[in-house]
Amino acid sequence: HWSMSSFCDQEIARIRALVGPTAQVIGAVSGGVDSTVAAKLMTEAIGDRFHAVLVDNGLMRLNECQQVKETLTEHLGISLTVVDGSKRFLDALKGVEEPERKRKIIGGLFIDIFEEEAIRIEKEAEHTPNAGKVVWFVQGTLYPDVIESISFKGPSATIKTHHNVGGLPERMMNGQGLRLIEPLRELFKDEVRELGRQLGVHRDLVMRHPFPGPGIGVRIIGECTPERVRIAREADHIYINMIREAGLYDEISQAYAGLDTNQAVGVMGDKRYMGYIVILRAVVTTDFMTAEAYPFDMKFLNKVAVRIVNEVEGISLVTYNVTSKPPGTIELQ
Ligand code: XMP
Repeated sequence: HWSMSSFCDQEIARIRALVGPTAQVIGAVSGGVDSTVAAKLMTEAIGDRFHAVLVDNGLMRLNECQQVKETLTEHLGISLTVVDGSKRFLDALKGVEEPERKRKIIGGLFIDIFEEEAIRIEKEAEHTPNAGKVVWFVQGTLYPDVIESISFKGPSATIKTHHNVGGLPERMMNGQGLRLIEPLRELFKDEVRELGRQLGVHRDLVMRHPFPGPGIGVRIIGECTPERVRIAREADHIYINMIREAGLYDEISQAYAGLDTNQAVGVMGDKRYMGYIVILRAVVTTDFMTAEAYPFDMKFLNKVAVRIVNEVEGISLVTYNVTSKPPGTIELQ
């Protein structure tokens, strides 16, 4: 793919020139393809003057934080700090049920932690030769994000506040005078994947389904208690592994197991018990603006349901969400 390899070289040269010889750059990473590719590109351009920060909000997938850390540092050579914010996030979400409030709390705390990290990195750099101020902030915004955030601007058009478009950088840029680099803002998802391959990002990561910034927080209807997060995580892990084993992962654009926190009656042994309701989601889409539910074979769904109810404590019922977008959305909240 000659055009992507020349894009890659040009972008690296552009970043180098833009940042100059001493300034430092920070960028949030999530383990998803966009932020990883952006971080790798930055590392190619300016090495250790780029600092990736992964905020563990306690709402990531099972074992994901550890995996992301290994991939980024050991495999891709990116300078990374992991901040464990899980307690802060879950404490702040205590008692909060309303979807937009959950999103605002998660997005707000994320910025707080990020600001703390920017200050810390700058302090540390005081003693490093050739390491100047933290001047730049990287975002892995794609072309469709740019479009969707623009169409989200009108009050009637506001469907959800996506926390990595719009809200996040504005406050940081005003407060700390950070300037924004968006190396992927002209690219579509498939082009970012191509760029990732060029940069040597592992295939599994390149093909990874998207994951929302607020994570499991928007996949639980109602309050996100630690127990509910545990349940949603375990159910999701089983479901995604079964999708992989069935060879369906790459055919599906995005899949997850979410949780309805109403409880339904189930039977265990000869006893009646109350458990949460799992809502499985799997969609096919090219642009994530419209989407169709994936037409699973009923037998596959039955097997998923049996395994989830048997293996995850606290679930009594499994459903499959067949709603298209629109009128539905991909996430639950
Ligand atoms: P919806 O639920 O709006 O999701 O149909 C469309 C796509 O956007 C992702 N999504 C988010 N991504 N921060 C993100 O980084 C967010 O706050 C957010 N909300 C939704 C969602 O996973 C899907 O791919």
